[in-house]
Amino acid sequence: MKVRWPVEIVGTGIRTGSRVMTNDDFAERLDTNDEWIQQRTGIRERRLTVENESTLQLARQASEGALERAGLAPSDIDLIICATITPEHVLPSTACELQAALGCGHVPAFDHVSACTGFTWAFLSASQYIHSGMANRVLVVGVDCMSRMTDYEDRGTSILFGDAAGAAILARTDDPERGVYAASMGADGSQAMSIWVPAGGSKEPATNRTVNERLHYIRMNGREVYRFAVTKMQQQMKQAIEDAGVTVDQIALVVPHQSNLRIIESACEKLGFPLSRVVINIDRYGNTSAASVPVAYHEAVTDGRIKPGDYVMLIAFGAGLTWGTALLRV
Ligand code: UT7
Repeated sequence: MKVRWPVEIVGTGIRTGSRVMTNDDFAERLDTNDEWIQQRTGIRERRLTVENESTLQLARQASEGALERAGLAPSDIDLIICATITPEHVLPSTACELQAALGCGHVPAFDHVSACTGFTWAFLSASQYIHSGMANRVLVVGVDCMSRMTDYEDRGTSILFGDAAGAAILARTDDPERGVYAASMGADGSQAMSIWVPAGGSKEPATNRTVNERLHYIRMNGREVYRFAVTKMQQQMKQAIEDAGVTVDQIALVVPHQSNLRIIESACEKLGFPLSRVVINIDRYGNTSAASVPVAYHEAVTDGRIKPGDYVMLIAFGAGLTWGTALLRV
């Protein structure tokens, strides 16, 4: 939909897992190889957490980086939204733990559970709080330690995921040109089991049996999700451009969820959107779920590809199945 929300990103930060795992590392233990993984996914390596790293730690360091770049103190934040499917604990929310770890004071803090779409939805939610006047500066974090729910005996999923956090601080802007120009969110719950973790929820709490049957790991119908992702990405990009009333040429950069290079290439090709204006870093990080969009955004800002005044599109899709887009002028 067409919107006009007075929101800007004033600081970003990232933190990835510290252990680099290459395709050859997988080939040593599974029936796979570097060529297959690169051709089918575009991934060369991913960064995984080591034993003393965790979701909270990654989120905290990414947030501290974002605060520093924004020139803000933790006490300047008045809302925290954390998008994650791998929370530090099942209870309480990671956002509350992050609030205390950063020293933000007693501001509201909550988690979003929408997997790879998580950061984009959290970004849109934060924009609403700013637009309505309920908040002025919101810390939005996308963080996932996917290695903690990945079955390293399953070659179909294990090669895909990495661990990372990306943080962005959203603030009210007085500049009439800046802000969010188009936004969309959607979900199709009838396809919920296309990407899921069978046990560990209230339906099947952890037991010896669920552990023995490896039911706490992520399961995915890759082909089905692939088709969904290409269609949705292309539709959503087209819709956002129309809603914002801009042309394809005016979009300086698209920052998509990094789940498979072929998905990005195929959607862009169908739309006639040049890949040279798409941020791609899946080769180094794999699919980091909720962290994927903010990590890519941060890299594009720090290497100068995003400049003040640019139209930039955030676009993501994932478990649920869910999808979301935000087109902003930075
Ligand atoms: O972030 C959330 C959203 N998730 C996504 O967007 C993921 C969407 N799906 C995908 O990216 C792709 O479906 C995958 C990368 C997961 C799989 O690629 P694919 O081209 O769809 O492969 P496939 O599942 O159709 O499998 C083709 C073949 C199969 O062998 P057979 O049955 O043809 O003999 C698989 O067993 O490739 C085999 N295969 C592998 N071979 C070597 C599957 N994984 C591997 C592997 N190495 N790691």
